[in-house]
Amino acid sequence: MCEKCKDTFYITTPIYYPSDKLHIGHAYCTVATDAIARYHRLKGEDVMFLTGTDEHGQKIEEKAKAAGVTPQEFVDNIVTGPKGILDLWKLMNISNDRFIRTTDDYHVAAVQRIFKKMYDSGDIYKGTYKGKYCTPCESFWTESQLKDGCCPDCGRPVVDAEEEAYFFRLSKYASRIRDLLVNTDFLQPKSRVNEMVKNFIDPGLEDLCVSRTSFTWGIPVTFDPKHVVYVWLDALTNYITALGYENDRYHDYKKYWPGINIVGKEIVRFHSIIWPAMLMSLGEPLPKHVYGHGWLVIDGGKMSKSKGNVVDPYVLAEMFGVDALRFFLLRTFPFGSDGNFSNELLINTINIDLANDLGNLVSRTTAMVEKYFGGTLPAEKQAGEFDDDLIAMLSGLRGRYMDQMEKFQLQNGLDEVFKCIQRANKYIDETMPWALAKDEAKKPRLAAVLYNLLESVRICTTLLLPFMPESCAKIFAQIGAGADVTTWDAAGKWGVLPQTVTVHKGEAIFPRIDAQAALAQLDALHEAQKKAALPAVELEPYAEETVDFDTFCKSDFRAVKVKACEAVKKSDKLLKFTLDDGTGTDRQILSGIHKFYEPEALVGKTLVAIVNLPPRKMMGLESCGMLLSAVHTEHGEEKLNLIMVDDKIPAGAKLC
Ligand code: MSP
Repeated sequence: MCEKCKDTFYITTPIYYPSDKLHIGHAYCTVATDAIARYHRLKGEDVMFLTGTDEHGQKIEEKAKAAGVTPQEFVDNIVTGPKGILDLWKLMNISNDRFIRTTDDYHVAAVQRIFKKMYDSGDIYKGTYKGKYCTPCESFWTESQLKDGCCPDCGRPVVDAEEEAYFFRLSKYASRIRDLLVNTDFLQPKSRVNEMVKNFIDPGLEDLCVSRTSFTWGIPVTFDPKHVVYVWLDALTNYITALGYENDRYHDYKKYWPGINIVGKEIVRFHSIIWPAMLMSLGEPLPKHVYGHGWLVIDGGKMSKSKGNVVDPYVLAEMFGVDALRFFLLRTFPFGSDGNFSNELLINTINIDLANDLGNLVSRTTAMVEKYFGGTLPAEKQAGEFDDDLIAMLSGLRGRYMDQMEKFQLQNGLDEVFKCIQRANKYIDETMPWALAKDEAKKPRLAAVLYNLLESVRICTTLLLPFMPESCAKIFAQIGAGADVTTWDAAGKWGVLPQTVTVHKGEAIFPRIDAQAALAQLDALHEAQKKAALPAVELEPYAEETVDFDTFCKSDFRAVKVKACEAVKKSDKLLKFTLDDGTGTDRQILSGIHKFYEPEALVGKTLVAIVNLPPRKMMGLESCGMLLSAVHTEHGEEKLNLIMVDDKIPAGAKLC
């Protein structure tokens, strides 16, 4: 088809906050959108796939401050730095055509024009923002955001306050938005509509505050620069500024808009109410659809840094391969609902679907073509029992798959393919090629069976391309399928692989995972990551009570030399020290530090002891004093270091 006659298709992910490293939940959304984009490219459409980052706002400003860098430096590092967002999308083989950052100049200028346009048309007006204000935090809160009536951030009391701000006349669009949600297929899946209408529209849509003066990391309102544009107004427009709306950086707004916005369920509200209202205000077409996908959760709960359960896509991709990870995400969870992530599930899916079903089908088929025909099928074939059923099922696969993919039912699309893969494996059992191979007269039948298997693999693999691009290319190479027979058109036709095709059996594309070993490795990594996430050094709290000087002076600290040191029998903690304290008589001190030191290592060291504590018995042994150590916590682990002083200091020297 000529480039100009192609249908266009525009799809976007949300733009991610570069406030932290992204996790598997973010990767899920981007991989799903990537698979949809690749599916439309496979169909021959002219696809524009956009993703990007949402870089303004108070949270980023605060994080940058805490890190001691400028907000721009902070986001640059997370977006373009090592193992940053761009690296992650490269690793996950994301095929986005464009990447927008809301700090890009063209976007900033476009947002300023859009804001002005809405102001000029009267849809943005200056008003007074009334709310609860936390003075130390310089933050406005709504009544419902307060915690026990206090600031949810610092817990201090808030006061009633007002500030001037710009508002968007969202209320004006309430009935049009309601109609859009209830009477069209704009918002998908349909199950999300009720929540929006019931919780947000029917209780009454209020005008939306769209400017802030309490922080500066945002896009200044050109005609009133102490205000910065509300981050959601800035962010939502990315879907059109990235095509050149109100800017000269790009010129394909007319070509691609309207498109489809794929978003997580928690931001459906912004995309199905505020976003269409903004477009209505601008007089621009609305997105074709907003699709609100479900969340990946862990043990039924949200992934969060504080729970230490965020899953690192880098780790999983490295262990299991990018395609296996992409496949797992889209095969296991229905796109519209939440899915419970677990490593066990990931490994099971790889082993069952990829290693067993698909992997075996490919390796058995190519191995048999090599073994029985030296790699090239003969032209002579003989049809037989079971063929019609297999051929009918595979011939109709593309249509069934397409029905699902058009509805964003990626999991069901994959299910259709895997039913065919399972059917093809069953066909091997039914036709028993190894038995046919024993009889020279049955070679034409054997050739037909293997050809049918190769055709099944070809069709299934073509439809798996959007999910596992690299592995599918490897399978095509193994079954000898050239570019002309791996197209969308060819996926709808049976019998297009050359009759005398040559296969090239290669390595197993999806090796089986040793579940136990992999889980142990992941657990160990997880523990190490959890530890690393804890503060490097935590100190004991400082004493609140003071001690008077005279009392302090009563403590008698002395340098002591370790003459002998051994573990106390039947105790896993205690060490028994025999010490030279300069008096000529050995002093015995017991100390519960075996966890930190091997006794032999301490002999000869000069330590510090307090020697005027009353003697104490431990495990039947007397301890006359206490050795001093420094204690702290490192990545959650208790650390202890005995105070060791210069060996030049004689035993018994007083410390004061
Ligand atoms: N910056 C806004 C979006 C602005 S779009 C104009 C934002 N960013 S975000 O980084 O917090 O989240 C972006 C998206 O990441 C979510 O909408 C969702 O698609 C995805 N996910 C984040 N955590 C997720 C899971 N645990 N599971 C699935 N998707 C998740 O919101």
